[in-house]
Amino acid sequence: MITIKSEREIELMKVSGALVAQTLDLLEQEIKPGMTTKELDRMAEVFIRDHHAVPSFLNYVPKSDPDVTPYPATLCVSINEEVVHGVPNIKRVVKEGDIVSIDCGVYKGGYHGDAARTFVLGIIDEKVQQLVDVTNECLERGIAMAVEGNRLHDISSAIEEYARSFRFSVIENMVGHGIGSDLHEDPAVPNYGRKHTGVKLVEGMTLAIEPMIALGRSRRAVSRRNEWVAVTEDGKASAHFEHTIVVRPGKAEVLTRTFLTK
Ligand code: MF3
Ligand code: CO
Repeated sequence: MITIKSEREIELMKVSGALVAQTLDLLEQEIKPGMTTKELDRMAEVFIRDHHAVPSFLNYVPKSDPDVTPYPATLCVSINEEVVHGVPNIKRVVKEGDIVSIDCGVYKGGYHGDAARTFVLGIIDEKVQQLVDVTNECLERGIAMAVEGNRLHDISSAIEEYARSFRFSVIENMVGHGIGSDLHEDPAVPNYGRKHTGVKLVEGMTLAIEPMIALGRSRRAVSRRNEWVAVTEDGKASAHFEHTIVVRPGKAEVLTRTFLTK
């Protein structure tokens, strides 16, 4: 069931979204080669709690898989071939040449915000840099379709088309999602699909749109049993960007932007 949010609820989601964006801004300023992913996680958790909010991902258990170990951190930090859900670790060091997806969720006032950016550390391979730029543009093109009267897969197909035009691979088994009082609500928002299909978009739908795009041929992110991190099948790099948005007439409203992402 897709819930349409009232303007009062959207006001609360703006607060959560703004805090997610500020947390990512902080990490963008602080991330440096030599840091551990655990240090990044700690910094984010302290910042979020200092702002009277709770990390959305911490202790999260997917409804589809209630036996999995609850997610043990504030952030997902996914490096290079890691697509999503990289668990912060005191032994995992980020280094020059890496691309690092940081995904952050915040719960405050009864509502979640969710966003991700892929950071580039130092000088990286030209093709990998292009992957990062194209994935960010995929997100922008998806957001541009999130307007009242369009259909859900107009978002999906805009993402897919742009990624494919560079012969990049769309990760198909991980999707965006509705968001609100639950981190994951209906509908699922795939990053591929046929335009003019899917549910009609209505003002007040709140969506987390999150393209995951890879070099190479992998169309799936796979994880080992009892492990959270999901990687490309061929070990090639993957990038990930995400915003929480509200469907509006004419132009979607983005709840997780800051001057750094404008
Ligand atoms: N943005 C991701 C998602 O929507 C992060 C979830 S991490 C989890 O799935 F721990 F909460 F699963
Ligand atoms: Co999400």
